[in-house]
Amino acid sequence: MSEPFSAVEVIVRKRDAGELTDPEIDWVVDAYTRGVVADEQMSSLAMAILLNGMNEREIARWTAAMIASGERMDFSGLSRPTADKHSTGGVGDKITLPLAPLVAACGVAVPQLSGRGLGHTGGTLDKLESIPGWRVALSNEELMAQLESVGAVICAAGDGLAPADKKLYALRDVTGTVEAIPLIASSIMSKKIAEGTGSLVLDVKVGSGAFMKNLEHASELARTMVALGTDAGVRTVALLTDMDTPLGLSAGNAIEVQESIEVLGGGGPADVVELTLALAREMLAGAGIDDIDPADRLADGSAMDSWRAMISAQGGDPDAALPVARESHVVAAPSSGVLTRLDAMAVGVAAWRLGAGRSRKEDPVQAGAGVRWHARPGDQITAGAPLMTLLTDEPARFDRALAALEGGFEIVADASYEPRPLLMGRVD
Ligand code: URA
Repeated sequence: MSEPFSAVEVIVRKRDAGELTDPEIDWVVDAYTRGVVADEQMSSLAMAILLNGMNEREIARWTAAMIASGERMDFSGLSRPTADKHSTGGVGDKITLPLAPLVAACGVAVPQLSGRGLGHTGGTLDKLESIPGWRVALSNEELMAQLESVGAVICAAGDGLAPADKKLYALRDVTGTVEAIPLIASSIMSKKIAEGTGSLVLDVKVGSGAFMKNLEHASELARTMVALGTDAGVRTVALLTDMDTPLGLSAGNAIEVQESIEVLGGGGPADVVELTLALAREMLAGAGIDDIDPADRLADGSAMDSWRAMISAQGGDPDAALPVARESHVVAAPSSGVLTRLDAMAVGVAAWRLGAGRSRKEDPVQAGAGVRWHARPGDQITAGAPLMTLLTDEPARFDRALAALEGGFEIVADASYEPRPLLMGRVD
């Protein structure tokens, strides 16, 4: 079949900071999915986009082309409104786990099609797979039935959803082109729009452990995604939240499930509770529910009931003991003072090197591996007291994890500590 455009011409136009036309965008995304545009050509185009950007029209068209590469789901037949949440990825970010059943307990259907972790950021599916028996893959029929009966589903996105993104994201991952705002925005939003949710709350992370290191870039990403969602008829808002410090007190798989269960039981770290409730309130507002306070559903046990139903519906045993790492190593505080910094990236890389994360998408992860920290910035520390516990099945991993933590925290005697707010902004 003769092709209407040449990949080289499209690449050269973007390389020279030109605008791609709608037909060019439709073609290049489709031809890449068909294998007509080669990986090396698409990686070159992705780099040109990273360096020269795209305007709003180009981003919207690129997103539409990625949606058109696959199927679209439709939840309009459900008896409840739908709301979804997406985080751009962080360290210790287990929020989806308590959030989905909490919002379901408030009467909203939450179709949470999630991914696995890559590199220093953990993946929701990897965390849940540490629960004995829990099943990640659901058919569309099972997904619908569970949304109607339980209200919350966390499962793997099927291969049919935005296949162009699947291929392009894997390519970006190995070509240094993940960080382009047009490509991140279109990647995330193509999947969310194709999934068919009625409303969407984005948690855009800002700081050392996030894609977006500063508020300016994070705000631009948030504005771009909110515009894409809104234009596609999805009620979309974004919260900008801190990721200089990891969330909660643990980064790993089973240990993050444990912390999520504590939150669902009415306890858990204050920052995890604060963010879970802030996102739940946005999701309820997006779904048109304004007379329920999600904090009540945590307190009265109904969010925990939803969690148990959600895990059981996917074959998991909510009462089973979670896997525990075979080996542990305690990092003692080297001095006394105030913990003024705990770097999310350092902790994320340490957890990854301990076996909680993967370097290539086909690598296995260890369910019990990860890092627990026993203090948060602002806490007073005594020299010699446990600061962190490293967990793994393979003790040979400790050295590289300790190397990742070097320079990753700071204890200052007599310091006054100004906390950075967790909620840094909102875009609608
Ligand atoms: N998550 C995605 O799904 N896509 C990106 O490009 C970045 C994060």
